[in-house]
Amino acid sequence: MASLTTEINRRRTFAIISHPDAGKTTLTEKLLLFGGAIHVAGAVKSNKIKKTATSDWMEIEKQRGISVATSVMGFNYGDYKINILDTPGHQDFAEDTYRTLTAVDSVIIVVDVAKGVEQQTRKLMEVCRMRNTPVIIFVNKLDREGKDPFDILDELESELKIKVRPLSWPINIGARFKGVYNIYEHGLDLFTPDKQKVTERVEIKDVNDPAIDAAVGNADAAKLREDLELIEGVYPEFNELDYLDAKVAPVFFGSALNTFGVKELLDCFVRIAPCPRPTVAEERTVEPGENGFSGFVFKIHANMDPNHRSCIAFVKVCSGVFRRNANYKHIRLGKLMKFSAPTAFMAQRKDVVDEAYPGDIVGLPDNGGTFKIGDTLTEGEELHFKGLPSFSPEMFKYIENTDPMKTKQLNKGIEQLMDEGVAQLFINQFNGRKIIGTVGQLQFEVIQYRLLHEYGAQCRWEPIHLYKACWIESDDEAALEAFKKRKHQFMAIDKEGRDVFLADSGYVLQMAQSDFPKIRFHFTSEF
Ligand code: G4P
Repeated sequence: MASLTTEINRRRTFAIISHPDAGKTTLTEKLLLFGGAIHVAGAVKSNKIKKTATSDWMEIEKQRGISVATSVMGFNYGDYKINILDTPGHQDFAEDTYRTLTAVDSVIIVVDVAKGVEQQTRKLMEVCRMRNTPVIIFVNKLDREGKDPFDILDELESELKIKVRPLSWPINIGARFKGVYNIYEHGLDLFTPDKQKVTERVEIKDVNDPAIDAAVGNADAAKLREDLELIEGVYPEFNELDYLDAKVAPVFFGSALNTFGVKELLDCFVRIAPCPRPTVAEERTVEPGENGFSGFVFKIHANMDPNHRSCIAFVKVCSGVFRRNANYKHIRLGKLMKFSAPTAFMAQRKDVVDEAYPGDIVGLPDNGGTFKIGDTLTEGEELHFKGLPSFSPEMFKYIENTDPMKTKQLNKGIEQLMDEGVAQLFINQFNGRKIIGTVGQLQFEVIQYRLLHEYGAQCRWEPIHLYKACWIESDDEAALEAFKKRKHQFMAIDKEGRDVFLADSGYVLQMAQSDFPKIRFHFTSEF
C-alpha cells in the first residue's frame, strides 16, 4: 500500500481562522494564487459572505449558496496536495466554523497587527485547544501602523494561552516597513508593495551578513540584530514536535494584501504541518493508513433552489480510499449505499471523482435528508466518530406554528434543518413548547425563511428569557431526579432526548451548580 501512504503523507488539510476583517479571505486567495488554483486576485473575495447588516440576510443566503464552491479549496503545491476548508466569516455562523475545525489537521490563525487578538479568535482558539490542533499564527497588515511585535507576541501567549515562537521578524512597521527576516531559513525579504508580485529576496549567510545593512540601512540592521538576539534569549529554539503537540505556535509576520511573507508561511507550513492524523471513534482510534475506508459528515450544505430540496453532505475521509460506486455502510441507518456522483473540490471547481484519500473532502449529493451532521460511513465496521459537539447556544426563542394546516411540514422542516446543524432544538418538558437555540440572530431569520420557502410552513418567534442551556448528567440517579423535579419548569430535552437545564440567569446557574454538587453541567453536548 505504498501509494496510500504516499497520498496520506502529501496531504495537508487545514482551515484559516480569524476575527472578521483580519485578512482571512485575502490570505486564502494568496495561497490559491501560489498554488496556481486561481490566476487573479479578487476571485475568492467575490464569494465572501460580506459583513452585511442583519436585515440583509437574504443576500447572505445567496452568497452562502455560491460559497459551496469555496467550501473546500484543494490544490497542488509542489509535491503537496493542500485542502483549505473555508469557514464563514460572519460570527452568526460560528457553529459552522466549530464543526469545520473537527475536520482539519491543523489551523492557521490570522491576527491583525493593529488590533491584536480579538474576541472571535479567542473563541476559535478554545476549540483548537480542545482538540489539540496544531496552530501557526500569521500576523497580518504589517504595511499599516500597529502594535510592537514583541507586545503582539506577549498578547498572543496570554490571550490564546499557547507558547509562541517567531519564525520570521519584521523590520519596522507601517510606512517604514522594510521587510521580514526569515528566522527559519535565514533569508531577508524586502518589502515591495505590490498586490500581484512575489517578494524580492536578498541572499544572506546569516544575520551578521553586511548585505542586510546594504539593503535596509545600518540603523535598521542593528535594530534587527538586537531584536533577534532578544528572541533567541527569550524563546526556546523552535521544536517541530512541540508544534505538532499543539504546545507551541510558530509565528510569521507579513502583509497578505501585498503578498508579502505569504510564500514563507506556505513553504514552512507544508514542511511542518501534520498530514492526516488518526481519528477517534467511540469504538477505537482509526489510523488513516488502514485499508478500509471510513469517513464522517461534518457539514451539510443546502441548495438554494426551493423547488428541489437537495443538499451536499461534506464527508472527511478518515482512512483508506473512498471509491465512486463502491458500497458503503451508513452506520446510523444501518444501510448500504453507493454514490455515483461524489464530487471533489479542486481549485474552484467541483468535479466528479473516482477516488479520494484521507484528508480529502468528498461532497455527496443528498436529496432525501439521508445525512445528519456526525454520520459515519465505513466498509461495514460499526464506528462512531467522536468530536462533533454542539455548543451551548447563546440566543433562544420559542418557535410557534402560524398555519395549523401545515403542522407536518413545519415539524419536518424543523427536524431537517436541525440535522443540518443550522440551530438546536429543545423541547421544554414543562409546557411542551419548542425552543430554538442559536449562536446568532441571523439564524432565526434564515430558519423562518427556509421553512417557508423549502417546506411551505409558516412560523413566528416568541421571546423567551434564557441565559444558557446546558446538558446535565449525574452518576447518582436519585440526585438527578431530585434536580429535575426541583427545576421542572426549566427542564428540556434536546433532539437526542438528553436532559437539558435552561438557566435564566448566570446567578441561577451558579446557584444550581453549588446547590447540586452531584450534578455535572456541560456546555458542549459531547462529554
Ligand atoms: P476577513 O476575510 O478576515 O474578514 O478579511 P479580508 O481578507 O476580507 O480583509 C479585510 C480587509 O483588510 C480588506 O479590506 C482587505 O483588503 C484588508 N487587508 C487584508 N490584508 C491586508 C494587509 O496586509 N494590509 C492592509 N493594509 N490591508 C489588508 P476592505 O477594505 O474591507 O476590503 P476591500 O474593499 O479592500 O476588498
